[in-house]
Amino acid sequence: MADRYLSFTGTASGRFLTRRLGLPQPAALRRWSPGAPGLDGGLLHLTAGTSGLDLAPVLARTGLGTDDATGRPAAVVLDAAGIRDVEGLAEVHAALHPVVRSVAASGRIVVLGAPLDPADHHQAAAQQALEGFVRSLGKEIGRGRTVNLVRLTDAPAAESTLRFLLSPRSAYVSGQVIEVGAHQPVAPDDGDRPLAGRTALVTGAARGIGAATAVRLAAEGRAVAVIDLDEAACKDTVEKITAAGGRAVAVGCDVSDEAQVEAAVARIAEELGAPTILVNNAGVLRDNLLFKMSVSDWDTVMNVHLRGAFLMSRACQKHMVDAGFGRIVNLSSSSALGNRGQINYSAAKAGLQGFTKTLAKELGKFGVTANAVAPGFIATEMTKATAERVGMGFEDFKAAAATQIPVNRVGEPEDVADAIAFFTGEAAGFVSGQVLYVAGGPLD
Ligand SMILES: NC(=O)c1ccc[n+]([C@@H]2O[C@H](COP(=O)([O-])OP(=O)(O)OC[C@H]3O[C@@H](n4cnc5c(N)ncnc54)[C@H](O)[C@@H]3O)[C@@H](O)[C@H]2O)c1
Repeated sequence: MADRYLSFTGTASGRFLTRRLGLPQPAALRRWSPGAPGLDGGLLHLTAGTSGLDLAPVLARTGLGTDDATGRPAAVVLDAAGIRDVEGLAEVHAALHPVVRSVAASGRIVVLGAPLDPADHHQAAAQQALEGFVRSLGKEIGRGRTVNLVRLTDAPAAESTLRFLLSPRSAYVSGQVIEVGAHQPVAPDDGDRPLAGRTALVTGAARGIGAATAVRLAAEGRAVAVIDLDEAACKDTVEKITAAGGRAVAVGCDVSDEAQVEAAVARIAEELGAPTILVNNAGVLRDNLLFKMSVSDWDTVMNVHLRGAFLMSRACQKHMVDAGFGRIVNLSSSSALGNRGQINYSAAKAGLQGFTKTLAKELGKFGVTANAVAPGFIATEMTKATAERVGMGFEDFKAAAATQIPVNRVGEPEDVADAIAFFTGEAAGFVSGQVLYVAGGPLD
């Protein structure tokens, strides 16, 4: 969204005029900042149906008081895990109907559901319905408020997921479903600094989403290998990390080249310690309509995204299996759902979702999780280059994109970095095989 338009809608006269003209009202997203790390206000805990979840201790640790939730709650957690039939859905409506308008701007609604029971089609239908409910509410709620669904069977295993969704870190995540496995977390998690001392490897980290992710993981105490095609281009990211007291090295490596990947991972293990966190973020675009797309443009996109993620994951998994711990996050995209002029990119990004789920199944028993983060429109050099290619100024391009996004804003690299950091957390060990769209709302 063009900055001038944002400032204009921030004034009383601008709001009045743009509303009268039916123009989009960009939400004032309250993102995380060191001075304001939590939501402003209390948490309202509601229940629909009869649930066996022991939520109180977990919710107490979110830092959101349940006493001051009257009036304008900053967060609403609706426990609907006990809904077993369509009649039960009426309780979901009855619980949220009176409070939805009172939820504070940039507030959070998290609906808790249960995994679908294949032996009980009434339960499966009712629980599946929650997904449609959340996706629709995510589109209509506005004012920077988000609505997400967490499917769980025990509360402690979902603690890190709830903390993420009930924090400013998830400002650009809405209309999403996260399924959490049914076990206790293996290690305590103190929120913003989950566990220092692990080595993370982020590809394509010279700029954009990769750079923001490297900085974010370093702030959590990870030693970070900043990988990109050109080692010198990684200098800025490394300097940012070291200036803040973190540890990082720049590594030049083409992720689609087997020998370079093996050498890079060996060097990182030697210099920083075994890489047990891997973020496959390196990416390129070679957009064209199918009939005009060259084989070389097809191959380039497949090689960087799919072959690159495969080579990196194969090289790092040895270290993860030895450590009995690993976190792999692959960058998919909203384009995985199909996008005109991107058959190579869409195929690669959809392929990464299948790749992720398979990794999760293969490596889960070694303590390794694999998840995909699928950004929508994020303001980076990549989207800037697309604007140039279609002959539009970047501000106009962002403004046009924002009109299609429920929060009426394009995303920032930090929005994606926050979601990636959540998946790499020690306590996210029972969140695996998930695809999380970070797109400012649900997608069609
Ligand atoms: N920006 C968006 O709107 C958006 C949306 C959805 C998904 N994504 C994905 O997120 C990731 C990061 O995107 P971004 O917007 O920050 O892009 P970007 O173009 O700003 O950064 C990508 C980085 O990857 C590096 N890279 C490219 N090929 C490489 C290779 N073979 N080996 C090593 N590094 C290589 C580039 O040099 C660059 O520094 C990509 O996978 C992209 O497809 C971005």
